[in-house]
Amino acid sequence: MKQDMIVILDLGGEQSAQIAREVRALGVYSEIHPNDLTEQQLAALPGVKGFIFNGGPNNVVDGVPLAPSEAVLRSGLPVLSADYDGAPAWPADDAARAEMLRAFVFDACNAQANWNMKNFIADQIELVRRQVGDKKVLLALSGGVDSSVVAALLLRAVGDQLTCVHVNHGLLRKGEPEQVVQVFRHNLGANLVYVDATDRFLDKLAGVADPEQKRKIIGAEFIRVFEEEARKLSGIEFLAQGTIYPDIVESGTKTNKVVKSHHNVGGLPDDLAFELVEPVRQLFKDEVRAAGLELGLPADMVYRQPFPGPGLGVRCLGAITRDRLEALRESDAILREEFARAGLDKTVWQYFTIVPDLKSVGVRDNARCDEWPAIIRAVNTVDAMTATIEDIPWPVLHAITRRIVTEVKGINRVCYDLTPKPTGTIEWE
Ligand code: XMP
Repeated sequence: MKQDMIVILDLGGEQSAQIAREVRALGVYSEIHPNDLTEQQLAALPGVKGFIFNGGPNNVVDGVPLAPSEAVLRSGLPVLSADYDGAPAWPADDAARAEMLRAFVFDACNAQANWNMKNFIADQIELVRRQVGDKKVLLALSGGVDSSVVAALLLRAVGDQLTCVHVNHGLLRKGEPEQVVQVFRHNLGANLVYVDATDRFLDKLAGVADPEQKRKIIGAEFIRVFEEEARKLSGIEFLAQGTIYPDIVESGTKTNKVVKSHHNVGGLPDDLAFELVEPVRQLFKDEVRAAGLELGLPADMVYRQPFPGPGLGVRCLGAITRDRLEALRESDAILREEFARAGLDKTVWQYFTIVPDLKSVGVRDNARCDEWPAIIRAVNTVDAMTATIEDIPWPVLHAITRRIVTEVKGINRVCYDLTPKPTGTIEWE
């Protein structure tokens, strides 16, 4: 293996993710693992040079205080405890804390600063090969950053043993399904099953105006289509997922905190039992993007703005109709094109259009026209909990408006949403 590793043992402490980031900033790879690591799990972790115990016996789960497992204690590897069992808390002083970590990682553990994307990918390829052997792997490839990076990595690791399934639910942005097919089937030579399930989804959604109901239908139908495709393939034993670190939620209360796995494709029936392959589950978003670039994915795929699972379905407000959905898709494509032309795609976190189920009077070719408005939303945020409005230069807004009202069928007005979050959420539904 190419990299050394420091394991952060989750004993219910608050800062596991932050500590992992700090160790990685020293150039040493680190992973967060639950306290009850077995002998076997430990043996499967490559390059472990030491442990950081984070949290301690005050954290009780099911009446039992969290403690490191016997396997960890018997490993004989150096341990840094902070906040654990009488050990002093982390120094509040940033410099002292950095020095404590540095001394532990390099002096006590003798770790090498050999963490980089090349080495990470090489190690993951080796680990995936060990896990999967000559068996087959299935991946739901949405075209989002995380699943795309996993697909590219698994292709390197197991090539033909991987089958990717791309379900087009009809609510993707303009050009997205085509890009997935182009990049993965044609450029990278992946086995890609492309399912155009547009009619199925839109039929199920017909007349449904309630946003939560729409989300439920889209989620459930997605599992159904994916499951049908999985059943058509024989001999699949592994399911790959683009789970990343922020998906691994730290659940429970302050004194009841364990790292729990969160599955992106939950809800698959029991008789489709797969073992999971999650090669980027310990990466943060910026690291996943770096891995994607290293694996040769196109920059516009790797730097794609966040896009909700239910896709355009929650931006075509109320009951979705095909003509209004098309107007939404076209207006969104124009907005993205003009933002890219103005360089705003580099500075604005999320930007899109919304088309409400509402018509207003306008005038076109000297005649009255009743058409929808397109609403522009462009926000910046760090964690999506709050969001601010980015100043968009007026000439850009004018250019977008001009193009939308002339090029998009059914839209006669463009509005600009100036509301930060709170009070407005980022999406309108
Ligand atoms: P809100 O609208 O809650 O959005 O301010 C915060 C972030 O979450 C995204 N979002 C979703 N993502 N499924 C997703 O995968 C959803 O149902 C969903 N709803 C909102 C939204 O795009 C924004 O980035």
